[in-house]
Amino acid sequence: MTKVITYGTYDLLHYGHINLLKRAKELGDYLIVGVTADDFDKRRGKINVQQSLTERIENVRRTGLADEIIVEEYEGQKIDDIKNYNVDIFTVGSDWEGKFDYLNEYCKVVYLPRTEGVSSSEIREHIRSIKVGVVGDSLFINKFIRESGYVNGMLISGVYTSKPEMVENKEIEILDSYGKLLNSSDAVYLRSEPSKHYGQIKEALNKGKHVLCESPLTLSSRETNELLDLAKEKKLFLMEAIKTAYATAFSRLLLLVKSGHIGDVVSIDATCTSLNDDNRTDWNGFYEWGPTALLPVFELLGSNYKSHNIICRFVEDKDTFTKIDFVYDKAVASIKVGDGIKSEGELVISGTKGYIYVPAPWWKTDYFEIRYENQNDNKRYFYQLDGEGIRNEQLTFLRMINTGAEVNNISLVTTKCLSSIMEEFVDDGNIIRI
Ligand code: CTP
Repeated sequence: MTKVITYGTYDLLHYGHINLLKRAKELGDYLIVGVTADDFDKRRGKINVQQSLTERIENVRRTGLADEIIVEEYEGQKIDDIKNYNVDIFTVGSDWEGKFDYLNEYCKVVYLPRTEGVSSSEIREHIRSIKVGVVGDSLFINKFIRESGYVNGMLISGVYTSKPEMVENKEIEILDSYGKLLNSSDAVYLRSEPSKHYGQIKEALNKGKHVLCESPLTLSSRETNELLDLAKEKKLFLMEAIKTAYATAFSRLLLLVKSGHIGDVVSIDATCTSLNDDNRTDWNGFYEWGPTALLPVFELLGSNYKSHNIICRFVEDKDTFTKIDFVYDKAVASIKVGDGIKSEGELVISGTKGYIYVPAPWWKTDYFEIRYENQNDNKRYFYQLDGEGIRNEQLTFLRMINTGAEVNNISLVTTKCLSSIMEEFVDDGNIIRI
């Protein structure tokens, strides 16, 4: 029996893929198809794949041409697969001509002619072009605009700002009214002052535009609930933006904790501080850092805390340091955030079997460790951090708009809890001032 193996991403399966698979099958009696995992694709620079690994595997399965489907997850796997599956022929399209000659040592390598005139990239180009208008006076919007350049499918339609001179990309149109920006966009990204979010989100949704808004969504639970309902009613997406939620290391960390790798979570300690960072002094420290520090707490422990304490240090009218302690039924959490103080920006999640340690600055990490009583059991995890998570956040937003499926990394519970804590902060009644 002649065994043939081929690999690909098979995003938005097209006739080029089918032709290739047919001819690959004809080369032998048994065809193994390797479908690349999302992470592996990202490491290769293919970050705009539209379909999930499961969908792409399903695409290949439905062709009926593959006798076996495997997942390609790491560099060098091809050699392992060829040996393990006793493969006789490795084949790919001619766009890879010469690139896999090194496999000749292990089996025969055949480059099949690529079908002209079709590719996943081209199909992605057509389904893309969501025009996103950017709103805000913060330097951070330059990062957002820069990152969008890596995301197929996102076009920046213009910027509405009171500080046009700080927009680095001079080719982008500056609009003098929010209404005009909305008229020329399919969606907006808001990095405006949190107190303006409510009005701006409402106007956008009422005009039929999707919204990606930096956290906090609003400064009141009632307003957030109202806007979430409005988005639902209008069949639009209102997505909260916290870039850390989209950093691969952080989202993997949450999955590992939720699947019991450190036992039951007993304590979470998260610290985020900055000193004199131009990007981070647009508004008070708690609005700036609070959502990021609270993210692991609400994602892992939820909304049912029994009590909490907010302690805040003000210098003149500006909050420079805030500490919140939460008591849950069987766990506690503590966050420290500051704009004007400095501390070790690490995240520690302690459990009954072990703990997770994320070194500073944990909110933009590509690395974390799971540590156990027996050091030999410790595990280190490394992931690619593309654009501090912003790129993945943009991709998620586009994917939701393109597919209509809610695939947000931030749960509704977290969004609601964040607004409720912000509301307490604005009300000031429950805050202990130091
Ligand atoms: N392929 C082909 N003809 C095409 C497109 C792809 O023969 N028109 C082959 C590739 O050479 C590869 C396999 O199909 O052997 C899977 O390719 P994949 O990278 O998934 O598809 P592309 O359409 O090339 O994707 P992209 O545009 O993202 O590179």
